[in-house]
Amino acid sequence: MMPKIALKGVNKSFGHVNNAFVALSDLSFDIRAGEFLAVVGPSGCGKTTVLNMLAGLDSPSSGQILLDGVAISGPGAERGVMFQDYALFPWRTVRGNIEFGLLYGKPGQGVSSEARRKRVDDAIALVGLSGAENKYPHQLSGGMRQRVALGRLVANQPDILLMDEPLAALDAQTRIILQEELLRIWGQDTAQETRRTVMFVTHGIDEAVFLADRVVVLSSHPGRLKAIVDIDLPRPRNGETRKSARFAELSQEIWELIREEAYRATMK
Ligand SMILES: Nc1ncnc2c1ncn2[C@@H]1O[C@H](COP(=O)(O)OP(=O)(O)OP(=O)(O)O)[C@@H](O)[C@H]1O
Ligand SMILES: [Mg+2]
Repeated sequence: MMPKIALKGVNKSFGHVNNAFVALSDLSFDIRAGEFLAVVGPSGCGKTTVLNMLAGLDSPSSGQILLDGVAISGPGAERGVMFQDYALFPWRTVRGNIEFGLLYGKPGQGVSSEARRKRVDDAIALVGLSGAENKYPHQLSGGMRQRVALGRLVANQPDILLMDEPLAALDAQTRIILQEELLRIWGQDTAQETRRTVMFVTHGIDEAVFLADRVVVLSSHPGRLKAIVDIDLPRPRNGETRKSARFAELSQEIWELIREEAYRATMK
């Protein structure tokens, strides 16, 4: 089966030819349709660079990135992006933020106002913000703001979710709750073919293991593929998953893969 996204021998350098900084070297991996793929690796290994290229905001120096077999040449409505600083509009309400892409962006083209209203209502309910529609971002906790950002993403109904450390700014408890919500939104409880495709960048090894079908481990200087780890934990995943011996074993395995470099990164 053709992968949803394929990276083939991707290199990425920044700067001028004579003085180029190699951020990614010969990176190849696939993301399957309906898969939840997590990417981990030490700071500076190129995770955000990969995400930007998949989003179409940047392009490889050489090599190919294919979406459904076609080279990515720019942003598209089928891909939704969520960055770490989730950049809500402070002057718009929860509803105003969530409907923004449908009002002004590509995802809303051809959507009637009635359909738009329904989609926004559904997104608000999906991310658990019913009742808070008319609040402004400054009236919300960090967790609720993150829900707004998630709601904005899903209202656009992208097939592919590209997420760069979306939960990093949250406290530990809120983060665990939103991890479980994210799995629900992704489609953990539905048939594989109806799930969205996710690439989720994180610093959290336990977060990657909890969420993902597979974890891509990158090493740094330059960013390269170190390993791809299959996460064979059963779904649906929940509190029990985190307590299982297999969960600890997989987390440990990934930690061993990045420990040395993570340590070195703290010395710079
Ligand atoms: N526009 C740019 N110009 C020059 N260098 C860049 C640019 N963007 C990224 N880099 C460099 O490329 C490398 C990879 O950066 P990137 O932001 O992708 O890493 P990361 O894995 O996301 O790091 P972190 O975990 O800290 O978010 C870093 O060394 C960074 O300094
Ligand atoms: Mg980054």
